[in-house]
Amino acid sequence: MSRVRDREASSASTRATGDNPGEPCDRALAQAVVEGLGAPQKTLSSAWFYDDEGSRLFQEIMALDAYYLTRTEHGILRSRGDELARRIAPDARPVDLVELGSGDGEKTLSICEALARRGADCVFKPMDISPHALDELSRRFAEHLPGFPVQPLCGDYFLNWPVTLPGRRQVAMFLGSNLGNQTHDGAISLLRRMREHLRPGDALVLGLDLEKDPHVIRAAYDDPEGVTARFNLNLLVRLNRELGMDFDVGQFSHYATYSPLDGAARSFIVSRRRQIVHSRRLACDFAFEAGETIYTEQSQKYNRGLIDTMARESGFEVQCHFTDERGWYTVVVWQAVEATVPPTMPPRRPRAPRPPS
Ligand code: AVI
Repeated sequence: MSRVRDREASSASTRATGDNPGEPCDRALAQAVVEGLGAPQKTLSSAWFYDDEGSRLFQEIMALDAYYLTRTEHGILRSRGDELARRIAPDARPVDLVELGSGDGEKTLSICEALARRGADCVFKPMDISPHALDELSRRFAEHLPGFPVQPLCGDYFLNWPVTLPGRRQVAMFLGSNLGNQTHDGAISLLRRMREHLRPGDALVLGLDLEKDPHVIRAAYDDPEGVTARFNLNLLVRLNRELGMDFDVGQFSHYATYSPLDGAARSFIVSRRRQIVHSRRLACDFAFEAGETIYTEQSQKYNRGLIDTMARESGFEVQCHFTDERGWYTVVVWQAVEATVPPTMPPRRPRAPRPPS
């Protein structure tokens, strides 16, 4: 499980007992629902998708024909593994390879195999909030790359960031286009937090989905098998279970859009009719008009200009891109630079052109 909860959510994520003794409820989730469903545009963060069933459905999504992202990224990591290993371990200096949200290590195994072929002195430090995924990762490495040093770390990336000793190069990795689930400002703040843990000359490897034919992108978020719809609507099932809500899930539907104007795929849950949803835990009601939406996810698609801007705004410079033949996806290597990060938030992503009048 590799998703990023935003800062507020993770800092308030202590489990508290709700009105039902013995049944834990997440205060951060309760707060997100009160604020998000109380807003004029109802909104819930996609960080809440990943309960057990959501994580299982995401695994299913990654294997779908329409969801090209995972397959394409794996292809790049496999076919360009040796070049990538040269960027990660350019000289004899030992390397700590820290992966944020490693999951079960499937995608990273080929990079570590390439590092082993290169004879790099490297320790792989995968970080994830799922102990189950990290167990799976350890098994996978023991089977396919025995002897490669792996030090898994379970928990929140930023609270548990591993110490790198002087003389070792640190390379952080954040794959799967997970950055795309952040707003632009959220992404910059996340990248700056990563940068704070790195020294000049250290590197960051990012997997980012690129802008392309809008049909291809939209189909990835609205697959004909309906798995993404179940993934989105599972959020309501979670709220029913954890906050004692009474969403009639059949009375809501999944809606996915992609706008080439700002490069964002967005997902919504749409109320099929006028209805009121009650939460026993929160002791409040939420009214829905027919057709009213809950905005649940942004999946940003990138271009070279935007990637360069983000690197500059967060204290890095772009070293190189590894892109697939179709130009659909990139694995980009950034190097941490000396320059101080500007203290104020940067301007937002350039606005989309105004529609013709
Ligand atoms: C985890 N994240 C990068 C996925 C994405 O493509 O935004 C989550 C996802 N949502 C729907 N399908 C996949």
